[in-house]
Amino acid sequence: MADAPGPEETTAHFIVWTQAMSVGRDSLDGHHQMIIDCLNRLHPLLGTSGRDAEVHAVIETLEDFVLVHFSEEEQLQRQIGYPDWRQHKAQHDAMYELVFKLKADLEHGRTPDAQVLFAILNDWLVRHILGEDRKYIPYLDHPAERTAPLWTRANGRPC
Ligand SMILES: [Fe+2]
Ligand SMILES: [Fe+2]
Repeated sequence: MADAPGPEETTAHFIVWTQAMSVGRDSLDGHHQMIIDCLNRLHPLLGTSGRDAEVHAVIETLEDFVLVHFSEEEQLQRQIGYPDWRQHKAQHDAMYELVFKLKADLEHGRTPDAQVLFAILNDWLVRHILGEDRKYIPYLDHPAERTAPLWTRANGRPC
């Protein structure tokens, strides 16, 4: 009988990225893996105290994520004619606002509880990355079936 895995093996990663989570673009998958990395870094902090520096580092990663990921994903959605890009962008905007609220809290000496942050990011992973983001995949697979122009002005009208 094989030995039971030791604690390091069972707690090393809360979640592991798999190809089944891919949206079909390496750069976007790489960004999504940043959220999985954040969850894995927060998981050992749950129920602990005095680990503020590690929570701060996660928020720094989140800041990098929202700055690099959302604009690239939104641009791609418009390029492939994803019809619900406005609704998707509204979700991104809310996530962006949340990260900058967390950042402002840090600057005022308030560190969010690791459990709260973990729950937020788990929700992002489950509902957004593994839910909403997957809805644009068919448009990547069938670019000929574009339903929207490549570019639109800020007011939503075609250029
Ligand atoms: Fe995404
Ligand atoms: Fe998204």
